[in-house]
Amino acid sequence: MEIIDGKKIAAEIKDELKLAVAELIKNGKNVPGLVTILVGDSPASESYVKSKAKSCLEIGMRSKIEKLSAETTEAELLELVEKYNNDKDYHGILVQLPVPKHINEDKIIDAISPKKDVDGFHPMSVGNLVIGKDTFAPCTPAGIQELLIRYGIETKGRHVVVIGRSNLVGKPITNIMLQKKEGANAVVTICHSAAKNIELYTQQADILIAAIGVPHFVKADMVKDGVVVIDVGINRVEDSSRPKGYRIVGDVDFDNVAPKSSYITPVPGGVGLMTVAMLLKNTYKAYLLYGEQNG
Ligand SMILES: NC(=O)c1ccc[n+]([C@@H]2O[C@H](COP(=O)([O-])OP(=O)(O)OC[C@H]3O[C@@H](n4cnc5c(N)ncnc54)[C@H](OP(=O)(O)O)[C@@H]3O)[C@@H](O)[C@H]2O)c1
Repeated sequence: MEIIDGKKIAAEIKDELKLAVAELIKNGKNVPGLVTILVGDSPASESYVKSKAKSCLEIGMRSKIEKLSAETTEAELLELVEKYNNDKDYHGILVQLPVPKHINEDKIIDAISPKKDVDGFHPMSVGNLVIGKDTFAPCTPAGIQELLIRYGIETKGRHVVVIGRSNLVGKPITNIMLQKKEGANAVVTICHSAAKNIELYTQQADILIAAIGVPHFVKADMVKDGVVVIDVGINRVEDSSRPKGYRIVGDVDFDNVAPKSSYITPVPGGVGLMTVAMLLKNTYKAYLLYGEQNG
């Protein structure tokens, strides 16, 4: 059994991007830029946005946080998005979700130029992913594929079972794995809360991807020997022995599933760290594809 080290792979990706950006700077070129827009005062969202901005700066990319008050109107937010759609220094635009309830999230996502949609949530990006065109894939599922590729885990013709059908993880990783491309080309089954006897599906998985949001949902008797397990879950469970009174666990009962698996991602230290790395990668891709056309 091998533990998939998301921290190591995320660092590798950041190092590669840092080198690429240094080369741009050396040649007197503009650098990729990411603007993150945060509406409201959620401490969790603020910490996500800060960590994304910090990672950009670490690799030499341009980064800006637009922090707006919770009272910002939909029209004001749309205007700001449009401003960055036309700003040639920012190749990626990320509106941190969720936005306050008085703002229509879909309208905001639709307003982001598909050329700057580094989160991969615009319907154009989603559609392109479904029909197998090169596009911006959402960062967490893109990170899962990157882990599989960099660990040399064969996906072609293997049975990938995904638990969860969210637009954020379950559906995009299904569409990524279905593509007739390297690091994909799998046979995919997708399960959700209406699945009956879910273990009948999970026991057939060569690669099991759990994106459920239920602590320790996947038990040892639900997987076959040699399975590759990708645990996307990030769940808080009470733990009085920890200073904060809780700890983070995944959707997989790691201690009991790990001995049966060939590869497994830990939580924390697995998929979670890949999301920001892939956001940086998408921003660099937006720069390469459309940098000259921006503005
Ligand atoms: N960076 C990261 O690492 C990252 C990013 C995103 C999410 N996450 C974590 O990944 C987990 C999933 O996130 P999400 O956004 O996809 O969650 P979500 O939108 O709540 O979706 C959860 C999915 O799991 C399914 N599900 C729930 N209970 C189930 C059950 N008992 N049996 C079978 N399926 C069940 C749901 O089915 P229905 O559709 O039928 O309701 C739904 O499709 C969360 O722990 C989240 O924190 C991590």
